[in-house]
Amino acid sequence: MTIFDKTKKTLQQLGVSDAPGVESLFAELRAAAERERAELVSRGAADQAQREKLSKALRDRWLARKGGFLSHVDENWLKPAGKELKPVVGRQFNELRRSTAGLELEKLVEAIPIQQAQVVQMGLPLAFETAPAAPRDLTLPGFHRPLGSIHPVTRMQREIEDIFLRLGFRIESGPEIESTYYNFDALNIPESHPSRDDWDTFYIDAKTVLRTHTSPVQIRAMEKYGAPLHIIIPGKCYRHDSPDSTHSPMFHQIEGLAVDEDITFADLKGTLDFFAKMLFGEKVRTRFQPSFFPFTEPSGEVAVSCFVCDGQGCRVCKQSGWIELMGCGMVHPQVLRNGGIDPDKYSGWAFGLGVDRFAMVKYDINDIQLFFHGDVRFLEQF
Ligand code: FA5
Repeated sequence: MTIFDKTKKTLQQLGVSDAPGVESLFAELRAAAERERAELVSRGAADQAQREKLSKALRDRWLARKGGFLSHVDENWLKPAGKELKPVVGRQFNELRRSTAGLELEKLVEAIPIQQAQVVQMGLPLAFETAPAAPRDLTLPGFHRPLGSIHPVTRMQREIEDIFLRLGFRIESGPEIESTYYNFDALNIPESHPSRDDWDTFYIDAKTVLRTHTSPVQIRAMEKYGAPLHIIIPGKCYRHDSPDSTHSPMFHQIEGLAVDEDITFADLKGTLDFFAKMLFGEKVRTRFQPSFFPFTEPSGEVAVSCFVCDGQGCRVCKQSGWIELMGCGMVHPQVLRNGGIDPDKYSGWAFGLGVDRFAMVKYDINDIQLFFHGDVRFLEQF
């Protein structure tokens, strides 16, 4: 006999004559109500109309004044109960009413999910499996899910990488948490160099820093692969710079390194001139000026004639006709030695550029901070 059949009989007919018997009957009934409710909620409905219909059917089955299970319980268990059992039956009946409150129409309707919406949203044909009988309107429009786009700094990085990949360079990477040995010592940067100062460098401890440039990976790659070597090293760098329109405490660099026999400054000039023309257009000219880096000798700064005004002077080049691109130079013999490469046999060139600054120039963006604010109105323009 099911619990529902039992509600149609009196306690006497069921042979229940004590409190534990009454309690277990009611427990069975409460469990059945909860099971039916849970099943309905987990199945869901195809639309609002079906949701209301299913809720009403369940509510009527249990709570209808005439013919609902609770009305049977009232008629057959509570009313005819003898004096001794009446208090316990009354208490249990009240509890049953409380626990079936979730079957009241309004609460039930809200609890049932409309599967049509879920299916479209999740992109999974789940509803067809969970509620095969439910009719649904497949012509309803789905939810619009906007596609993301490539971040301008990533886009710039990939553009630069592509040019060097075409020239036969490989992409290499290294750690952002770096030892002072690789970040400074091995690059010939003396103890007294200002960039070691707390002001410029984030120290984790006396011998560990957040790398201030991608150059430490030069040494790591020389140690790992030896010569010949043609690599570019994109990655994040960190400096104790106050944020302003051209400085960010975290920014991106790309390092270039070529080590081989008979590499000369002419190779460096030729490669960087080709690179500038690929990136900014055939018409641009490159300019090399002397500079200083402890890890290159000689060292240079490269500028490109303004690709907007062709060197005439405009807002992009700040009226100078030139745009500063990067630092570069011939790898210092001591640096080759530190990387385990014989400077009498091999020579090399290296450069380091700021990807964020390149993206600012290329996409005409006047504030580096815009890259890191995550404002969709800015990012969706790319
Ligand atoms: C260097 O970091 C050298 N390691 C580059 C190098 C490599 C020279 C190999 C020679 C051979 P510099 O400190 O100039 O150089 O930084 C390179 C570029 O990083 C700058 O031109 C600039 O574009 C970018 N940069 C530096 N600091 C910041 C910052 N706080 N925010 C954004 N970009 C920055």
